[in-house]
Amino acid sequence: MSDTDTSAERAVVRDSVTVRVPAKVNVQLAVGAARPDGFHDLANVFLAVGLYDEVTVTPADELRVTCAGPDAHQVPLDATNLAARAAIALAARHGIEPRVHIHIDKDIPVAGGMAGGSADGAGALLACDALWSLGSSEAELLAICAELGSDVPFSLLGGAALGVGRGERLTPLDVGGTFHWVFAVADGGLSTPAVYGEFDRLTATADVPPPAADPALLTALRTGDATALAATLVNDLQPAALSLRPSLAATLTTGMSAGALAALVSGSGPTTAFLTKDAESAETIAEALVASGNCRTARATSAPAPGARVVS
Ligand code: C5P
Repeated sequence: MSDTDTSAERAVVRDSVTVRVPAKVNVQLAVGAARPDGFHDLANVFLAVGLYDEVTVTPADELRVTCAGPDAHQVPLDATNLAARAAIALAARHGIEPRVHIHIDKDIPVAGGMAGGSADGAGALLACDALWSLGSSEAELLAICAELGSDVPFSLLGGAALGVGRGERLTPLDVGGTFHWVFAVADGGLSTPAVYGEFDRLTATADVPPPAADPALLTALRTGDATALAATLVNDLQPAALSLRPSLAATLTTGMSAGALAALVSGSGPTTAFLTKDAESAETIAEALVASGNCRTARATSAPAPGARVVS
C-alpha cells in the first residue's frame, strides 16, 4: 500500500460483508400528543419477527445502492435510502469516504409499517462497520441509528424492547416463548408522516394521555402467553391507518374469521398483523387471507427474531 492511499482504502480488509436484519411488529404502540418538534412521544413495544432483508456491502469507487426482490422497484436508491445514509454517517464519524456498494436483498414489505427501511439502515451500518474494520461498540452504533430514524435502533437490537421518546430510547424486554404471526401485505405503502398527521387530525379535540407501557402486555411477552398477549395488543395509529386505507378493515376481519387470536395494523401500516395460536394455524390463516383477495400476499412467521447479524 502506498503513502498516498486514503484511510478508507487502508481500512478495507474484507471483500464483502452481508448482514441479515429482521422486520418488526409493534405489539403496543401508545402514541402521545404531537411535540413541538413534530414528533410524538411513544410507548412502543417492538417485537422483531422472522422476515429479513440482507444487506451486502462491497468496496466500490463511490457510494451506490442496488436492491433486488419483488418490491425492489419501490425502494429509493439515492441518498434518501437509510442504508446510504447509514454508510455516510458512519464514514463521516471516522473521517473516511463511504466508497461502498450497498446491495439490499429485500424481503420485508416496502413502506409497510414493518421497519423495512430502518432494517436496511441498521444492516448497512453494521456491515460497513465490519467492512471498514472500525470495531464500533453497540452503544456507538445505536447512537448513529437514533440519528437515522426512530425505529432504526430496534432493527439493530432485535428481540423485543420498549422504546420511549420518539421510540429510539430502548430497554430490552424478556420474551418467554415463541409467538406465531401472519402478516398480510397490502398493495402499495402508507407514508408514516401521513399516518401520524391523520392521528393528529383524528385526536385534535381529544385529551391524548401520556403514553405508557401496559404491564399486562409486558407480562404476556415475558411468560410467552399468546392468549394473554392477544388480549393486550394495541396500536394507537390503527384508526388513522384505517381512515387513510378503509379496505384494511376487511383484511382484519378475514384474519379473525380464519381463527387469529388477535389482529392489528402493523405500525403505521398498511401491513396487517395476526397473532395465532401455533404455526399450523398461522399457515391456515395465511391461506385464507390470500384466498380472500383482501391482500397482495400473506406471510407466516414467528417471533422473537434476532437483531442485525453478520452472516458472511
Ligand atoms: O423517525 P422517523 O424518520 O422514522 O420518523 C418518520 C416520521 O414519522 C417523522 O417525520 C414523523 O412525522 C413521524 N413520527 C412521529 N413520532 C415518532 C416517530 C415518527 O411523529 N415518535
